[in-house]
Amino acid sequence: MSRSDSRPRMPGNCGISEAIEELSLAPVLFSRFQKLIYNECGIWLGPQKQALLTSRLARRLRTLGLSTMSEYFRLVTQPDQQHERSVMLDCITTNETHFFREPRHFDYLAQEVIPKWKREAEAGKRLRHLSVWCAGCSSGEEPYSLAMLFLKHLSAEAGWFPQILASDISTRVLEKAREATFPIEKAQEIPKEYLRSYMLKGTKESTGTMRVVPELQKIVRFARINLFADSYPVQGTFDLIFCRNVLIYFDDRSKEKVLAGLVRHLSPTGLLFVGHSEHLNGARELRLVAPTVYALKSAAA
Ligand SMILES: C[S@@+](CC[C@H](N)C(=O)[O-])C[C@H]1O[C@@H](n2cnc3c(N)ncnc32)[C@H](O)[C@@H]1O
Repeated sequence: MSRSDSRPRMPGNCGISEAIEELSLAPVLFSRFQKLIYNECGIWLGPQKQALLTSRLARRLRTLGLSTMSEYFRLVTQPDQQHERSVMLDCITTNETHFFREPRHFDYLAQEVIPKWKREAEAGKRLRHLSVWCAGCSSGEEPYSLAMLFLKHLSAEAGWFPQILASDISTRVLEKAREATFPIEKAQEIPKEYLRSYMLKGTKESTGTMRVVPELQKIVRFARINLFADSYPVQGTFDLIFCRNVLIYFDDRSKEKVLAGLVRHLSPTGLLFVGHSEHLNGARELRLVAPTVYALKSAAA
């Protein structure tokens, strides 16, 4: 059915009800979207996600002026529609995140890892250059939390030079992350000592927001990286890889592929952090060094 059809429409939700109807009437179409999304990003949407997918895509249909999900499917599968495929993925990703989420990881870094790096640097056994990858960073709370931790504990005067690559598949969240401005309510997620040093409270037209200080922004670089890709546009290896609450959306096959990709970029003495509900029991090259923190088995204990 096209926009010019004369069938009566529900006021207020023009297009959405029809799109929902179209998809719910055609499970075959849902299954095509399932496969398309899986092949694009490794996320398998189970049948319970049908309503969610429908409502999220319906909004996109409305923006594009399309009337049915099958029209949208035809569009998004055109070879030259890479941009539309990435917009579709933006619609379906779950981006929940917080500053200092899962604080045990930050405590572990502050109490165990950073003191060890300092000892090693003093003994001339490591450089003071730190390379960190926050893979699946959402709107930036996680990489900025890491940046605060590093700036507090590893001073530039002592020669420390941390750099964080923060990546996500969703361009929408990356845009928010680059803006570096957050609702003031999020201040409660940040321990007081960090809040005072690294967040600027918005005034006048920015009232109700807070902004990360420029020093913090300088050490975080954002990029769109699809972790399900066969290779990643990143160079070298990382001292830390944070990939938390991302693997949870993948099935075993895609999880294995993503893990293999991450492990290729983990430095021989590096650490991989995953979310607290993501245990990597099947990862042959990794050993557990702390709850949900892994190192390469080949690395010295
Ligand atoms: C729930 S958020 C987790 C954010 C953060 N790591 C945390 O723990 O608070 C999951 C993020 O993974 C991203 N994501 C999902 N599939 C991805 C993929 N194939 N490649 C890269 N990022 C992906 C989503 O866009 C989303 O922002």
